[in-house]
Amino acid sequence: MIRVGLVGCGWWAAHAHVPAIDAHPDAALVAASDPDRERLATVTAGSPQARGFATVEEMLAVSDLDVMVVASPAAFHAGAARAGLLSDVSVLVEKPFTLRASDAHELVRLATSRRLGLSVSLPYQYTAAARTLRTLLAEGTIGDLVGVHAVFESYAAPLYTGDVDEYLRRVNRPHALAPLPGTYADAAVAGGGHGQSQTSHVVSAILDATGAMPERIAAESVFVSPGMDTANAISLRLSGTAVATVFSSGGALPGLPAQQTVTYLGTAGSARHDLAGATLDWATPDGAGGHVEPGAGESDYPNGAPVSTLIDAVARVRAGHSDEQLMQLTAGAERAARAVEVIERLYREDAGRD
Ligand SMILES: NC(=O)c1ccc[n+]([C@@H]2O[C@H](COP(=O)([O-])OP(=O)(O)OC[C@H]3O[C@@H](n4cnc5c(N)ncnc54)[C@H](O)[C@@H]3O)[C@@H](O)[C@H]2O)c1
Repeated sequence: MIRVGLVGCGWWAAHAHVPAIDAHPDAALVAASDPDRERLATVTAGSPQARGFATVEEMLAVSDLDVMVVASPAAFHAGAARAGLLSDVSVLVEKPFTLRASDAHELVRLATSRRLGLSVSLPYQYTAAARTLRTLLAEGTIGDLVGVHAVFESYAAPLYTGDVDEYLRRVNRPHALAPLPGTYADAAVAGGGHGQSQTSHVVSAILDATGAMPERIAAESVFVSPGMDTANAISLRLSGTAVATVFSSGGALPGLPAQQTVTYLGTAGSARHDLAGATLDWATPDGAGGHVEPGAGESDYPNGAPVSTLIDAVARVRAGHSDEQLMQLTAGAERAARAVEVIERLYREDAGRD
């Protein structure tokens, strides 16, 4: 049995991670930590084996964990993940991975040197469309990449002013345990607004798909209060031959569904990834091409996949197989760390001057 611990017993832990851990045949939630005792009790109510702790350090000291999920607010991700890795626990960190790229890269080095799994909870990267896109780009099916352009709209704007109820209304996701307003609206805890909460998704998706390094970064943002942005425009020079632009905004309204598309233009074809619909379409000049969409029963946003995939990889090592899958997840975290470089730069470029 893979012993899983949880750091941060909030909305997303209750909605995504705990159901996935409960559904996994080889895993059990055995420990959880949160400074808020009520939230701790609510999220662990259905997990009789789970012991509750106020801090991650207390939890790690006595729990003998194999996997730890960090789902606390962004400012606490790096410290909790480091504590887990130093206790020889494989770690899944919620997005945004960390607020500083130096922390993200240090965590990747730590996991790599200890042969541990480190993964970032980015569900858009766990669909058949995302997997096919990675293969297409790696095999050069659309030639050399020339340009990438992304539009990433979401309904998250109310979160950046602390109006959690309006956000949950817009996404039609009533939930017994709502996010705490400060998790998204307090710049000291969230590290910023839309750039941290949502643009991190699309920048990670591009860097994961292409495997590219962000070599030059320029950005402009729209701020609703100091340090709290609600829209970002990013221009990137990627390693290799390509340039990329990203427009990302939390201002979508339910009347017109949010557009979340990334288009990859190559010297011998193009591919379009619809993140919201989890589809991929591609075409080459000789008439080849294809379409990928979620199969029957597959979710277009597989939010339980990051934790179940990490549990599977840890279980394989436990069963005597090589740690290749585990280290592939850690390699993915290295690509996610490059996205932190972009988001960190975004806030340095435009720190709320309007
Ligand atoms: N991957 C996704 O699609 C997705 C979706 C939603 C949220 N998230 C991420 O999940 C994280 C949590 O978001 P949420 O919506 O569940 O917020 P939330 O406010 O509901 O939950 C955060 C919880 O962390 C607790 N906490 C605060 N400080 C802590 C600490 N030092 N140690 C442990 N726990 C602490 C709070 O008491 C709260 O219960 C954020 O990083 C957010 O960006 C990711």
